[in-house]
Amino acid sequence: MKISVFSTQAFEIPFFEEAFRKTSFDLHFIDGVLDCTSVDSAQGSIGVVVFVNDQLDASVLARLKELGIEWVALRCAGFNNVDVDAAKTLGLSVVHVPAYSPTAVAEFTLGLILALLRNIPQAYRRTKDLNFSLDGLLGEGLSGKSVGVIGTGKIGTRLVDLLAGFDCQILAFDINKNRDLINKVNYVGLEELLRKSQIVSLNVPLNDKTFHLINEASLQLMPKGSFLVNTGRGGLIHTEALVQALKSKHLAGAALDVYEQETGVFFKDHSSYGIEDDLLARLTTFPNVIVTSHQAFLSKEALQQIAEVTAANLIALAHGSEIQNSVY
Ligand code: NAI
Repeated sequence: MKISVFSTQAFEIPFFEEAFRKTSFDLHFIDGVLDCTSVDSAQGSIGVVVFVNDQLDASVLARLKELGIEWVALRCAGFNNVDVDAAKTLGLSVVHVPAYSPTAVAEFTLGLILALLRNIPQAYRRTKDLNFSLDGLLGEGLSGKSVGVIGTGKIGTRLVDLLAGFDCQILAFDINKNRDLINKVNYVGLEELLRKSQIVSLNVPLNDKTFHLINEASLQLMPKGSFLVNTGRGGLIHTEALVQALKSKHLAGAALDVYEQETGVFFKDHSSYGIEDDLLARLTTFPNVIVTSHQAFLSKEALQQIAEVTAANLIALAHGSEIQNSVY
């Protein structure tokens, strides 16, 4: 049974080959994204395996159906890039990997916070140029800071546990409070969290309610000199408003593992010809902004889990077993 794996990165292949070794699936790795221009390369497959930047809108899903594809297996947790209603109407099965090492993302988020507060990227760049001066590298401690965690699901909860070791005061906002955190965080409304946090971390999914959750008005609520970290989804932040908040020095810094317009830019090497996206280009010019290209999940543990759960999802679909990881 042929399965087309879109947006394949070379580093994923060994994990997928190992997880699928004993299955009857024949994996076809395709390095480009799935969209209306590439959909026909799935011809002959029974399923497609896709990632965060593949574009499964109604027309792509309809074409997949015409090609005889029955299964869409996301190898990620979020499914904001899939028109779920259209998939349902077409009778396509859509499965995902609901959790893959939330610890990987939480640890990366903590790493970004520390790197921001202590100017580690700037120091690293300097010493590469044999500049060993300390001027301009004065940092701030994390211990004792108030940290606002927006979204206390699997990743947010792990982040709270990690932050506990730093003696932080943790404020949290979530539409569903995690009872296990009641004694560890102070659940407050979004506005109070933004007003009182010196560091804000975004760990909610992207949906109609969270789109541009951080915008001009919400940035103004954050204290002057505060930091923003986004390992959730790019669309959670109105990027132009963020750029203004950085230009005016209202924010002391930001770390972004995700970006609104990351599709087509992230996961590729543009170093020889540059990028067309002026906003992203501007962001990379701020010394106090760290941009990473959707890397928070990228640990050996997470890749192994992604490949194994994806194999299990496809096996369950092939056997007509009960599907646990369906997105609808
Ligand atoms: P989760 O589903 O366990 O938790 C999400 C939390 O957000 C839930 O507690 C939910 O109640 C809350 N939430 C949803 N809508 C909300 C709203 N409107 N206001 C406040 N809270 C709201 O998800 P998990 O595993 O913690 O992941 C969170 C997000 O992190 C994912 O949706 C994905 O977008 C992102 N992610 C990023 C990765 C990366 O490599 N940068 C890797 C994996 C996930």
